[in-house]
Amino acid sequence: MHIINRNSPCWCGSGLKYKKCHYDFDQRISYFRNQGHMVPDHDMIKTPAQIAGIRESAKVNIAVLDYVAEHIQAGVTTEEIDRWVYEQTTRCGAVPAPLHYEGFPKSVCTSVNEVVCHGIPSAGQVLKDGDIINVDCSTILNGYFSDSSRMFLIGNVTSDKQRLVEVTKECMYLGLEQVKPWNFLGDMGQAINDHATENGYQVVRDIGGHGVGIEFHEDPWISYVSTKGTDMLMVPGMIFTIEPMINMGTWEVTIDEEDDWTVRTADRKPSAQWEIQVLVTEDGHEVIAY
Ligand code: MF3
Ligand code: CO
Repeated sequence: MHIINRNSPCWCGSGLKYKKCHYDFDQRISYFRNQGHMVPDHDMIKTPAQIAGIRESAKVNIAVLDYVAEHIQAGVTTEEIDRWVYEQTTRCGAVPAPLHYEGFPKSVCTSVNEVVCHGIPSAGQVLKDGDIINVDCSTILNGYFSDSSRMFLIGNVTSDKQRLVEVTKECMYLGLEQVKPWNFLGDMGQAINDHATENGYQVVRDIGGHGVGIEFHEDPWISYVSTKGTDMLMVPGMIFTIEPMINMGTWEVTIDEEDDWTVRTADRKPSAQWEIQVLVTEDGHEVIAY
């Protein structure tokens, strides 16, 4: 039998007695667990010191994407974007998280048109008028991880593709509205999936979001096609990504057989993605990286 000592220091590292700190919080989580819900364990709940470190990392990630936003245009190669990301990240004393991550060869993912995610920058790939591209940056600063991505329109983009990019951004923000303590990740997933399908699009199912901060990819894995009231309970101190991938056609995807990374839509129709990194706060949420 496990006896909880309410007078010993709280597990969260605050230095307060457990009964004065996370005791009521844990009781509330137990209630949801007993109702059959998935609940976060303690290592999914970041301490204030960890949150501070992750925020600093995110500042670099935001600055790197701001730099990309200022310089990206037709004629630029995705290899050049990779160089910008490497240089701007290291200039801040940080490291691009994708570099050598599970064998990924570059510092950033660049996903153009029908590429859903994990596109590998290359010198032979020149951005041209009408392209849409997702640039996905992730940073390690002092051991803390941040992760966010944005879409960019290159020159004159067809209204179909513009709408896909806009609706995908709306999906992300509708998902964000659901982020508050004691809601469920499924509340967010359903908000995203509903808006995408109402617009005639399909949400990628095989790739999702994730916890992030102490590692690049932490539990929980996050679906954006889930159902209200299901999946994990959200509680203050959790940090995760909202990064739906939305396809103009089918949700089905393929993985490039040669590089084993590049994910494309199965029907080769365009795909869009926006990603923010979010902290669940006492009364809602805080966007940590965008
Ligand atoms: N940045 C991606 C994400 O949002 C992960 C990329 S993994 C890499 O989760 F190895 F391709 F960089
Ligand atoms: Co991510």
